[in-house]
Amino acid sequence: MTDQPGAAAASHLSARVAALPPAWLRDNCPCPECRDPRSGQKLFQITDLPHGLAVGEVVEPAAGGEAPVEVRWVPDGHRSSFPVTWLDAHRPADSALTGDRRTETGKELWTAADLTGRVPEARWDDYLAGPVRRARVLDAVQRLGFALLRGVPRQEGQVLAVAETFGHVRETNYGRLFDVRVEPDPNNLAFTSARITPHTDNPYRDPVPTLQLLHCLENSATGGDSGLVDGFAAAAALRAEDPASFAVLTRTPVPFVFRDDRTELRADRPLIDVDPLGRIREVRFNNRSIGTLRLPAAALEEFYAAYRGFGELLLRPGLQLDFRLAPGDCLIFDNTRLLHTRTAFAQDGCRHLQGAYADLDGLASSLAVLRRADDLDALTGLFHGPGAAEYLGEEVTMAEHMLQAGALAEAAGAPAHLVAAALLHDVGHLSGHAAEEAGDGDHRHGQAGADLLSRWFGPEVTEPVRLHVAAKRYLCTAEPGYRAGLSAASEHTLRLQGGPMTEAEAAAFAAMPQAAGAVAVRRWDEQAKEPGAAMPGFDHFLPLLTRLLRG
Ligand code: OGA
Ligand code: ZN
Ligand code: ZN
Repeated sequence: MTDQPGAAAASHLSARVAALPPAWLRDNCPCPECRDPRSGQKLFQITDLPHGLAVGEVVEPAAGGEAPVEVRWVPDGHRSSFPVTWLDAHRPADSALTGDRRTETGKELWTAADLTGRVPEARWDDYLAGPVRRARVLDAVQRLGFALLRGVPRQEGQVLAVAETFGHVRETNYGRLFDVRVEPDPNNLAFTSARITPHTDNPYRDPVPTLQLLHCLENSATGGDSGLVDGFAAAAALRAEDPASFAVLTRTPVPFVFRDDRTELRADRPLIDVDPLGRIREVRFNNRSIGTLRLPAAALEEFYAAYRGFGELLLRPGLQLDFRLAPGDCLIFDNTRLLHTRTAFAQDGCRHLQGAYADLDGLASSLAVLRRADDLDALTGLFHGPGAAEYLGEEVTMAEHMLQAGALAEAAGAPAHLVAAALLHDVGHLSGHAAEEAGDGDHRHGQAGADLLSRWFGPEVTEPVRLHVAAKRYLCTAEPGYRAGLSAASEHTLRLQGGPMTEAEAAAFAAMPQAAGAVAVRRWDEQAKEPGAAMPGFDHFLPLLTRLLRG
């Protein structure tokens, strides 16, 4: 009760860490012994952890600081550092609120009226031109289940190029791509001029293709209009109106079959698939390819009543979004959620679509990678902010200095994490945290920079940054002639930073796991003060930095 607010906040953090399940916390240790610095992959097995694992001691950062929390483990004495931002972002939570983007909770369900004036569409040229527009289209596919690209070149095979902008084509028995037009001897009703009612494609495949693309090359026939129905919205309506039927459809495996001369496919899946928490995850609906169910007679009655009820619901006016594909349009849609339809068409003109399949995981991955650049906005901002403009006593600005250091590391063929460390080694100066501490002689900017960077990167990046000031003091002792090469400003700060290390300090430094990286960064640091040198902009390094972001 007499605690100061800062102390209360700090001890609260210790209590929070102590309350976390030890096996979970240790499994997430980011140190280079536990995770490979290059790939970020774990280097240990769950069975390698000692029995009786427990948090021995929690060492908290100074009040208000950005330093990670250090955990000392018993019985093995291992040490882990967890950024407070990481602990905040990964608090224990109800899994119903987090996780799987495939289920209804990760989606925006719709009826036709909901999309009036906001059908997700983009011009092909704009889509290709920039990551923002591209992300918006992919996000629409993930969230609404579809997007329409317009002005896609009307070339045979172009649908494959569209799929390859965000993922990988899924080849099937219909080929890498398939032509949707009237065929003389069709193996599928799609290849006639008949009406096709709302359905998902390839329900007889396991796994089912999760994305479908339809690219319109010609559409001059009378009829042949398109429609989309949100199957998740329909399933949610069924659950609300007739929960018993919904339950029947989630628990009855339905045989879907397809056969022609060369193919015989079969998958047994429910019409509505829910995840382990009961959330709608996949809808499979195709009247053309439902096979013969074999179940007890009462269960068949129950299934057919529920199937019919769902079928009627799917045809309910208002659910279906109607539109007409024009030549150059390419529709991308979630084949585990949306049902697609077309009206019958006359043979008075030509209707020719090309289709292909792809998968949602690849699309989600492309979208996540496009969004990584947003995560780094704050860091990018520091490079363009006022702090980057000058570098006391040097002839280059702070931003130029760091860009030169990054470029030198890259030219030397350094691994990505050291290029990043070189590029970012002085962010402690930019962020304003070190400035407050300029009075105590500058030796904090490595610390402040590393703490700031722990928001984005693991120790393979942060520790060389933390140690780059110590590396200067080390090199002055360990390497004859090194000190003579320092710039005047660097010589000045050396004294403020404590001067060269003693022999004993130097030996202890050299034994640290990140010492070699810190020394490498230090050398690029010294060289990166060339006025007028050509250097890449910060954007040049974004792909490298985004690859290093911790998950
Ligand atoms: C299909 C299909 C719709 C159309 O090929 O899977 O449903 O508009 N085609 O022709
Ligand atoms: Zn279809
Ligand atoms: Zn520097």
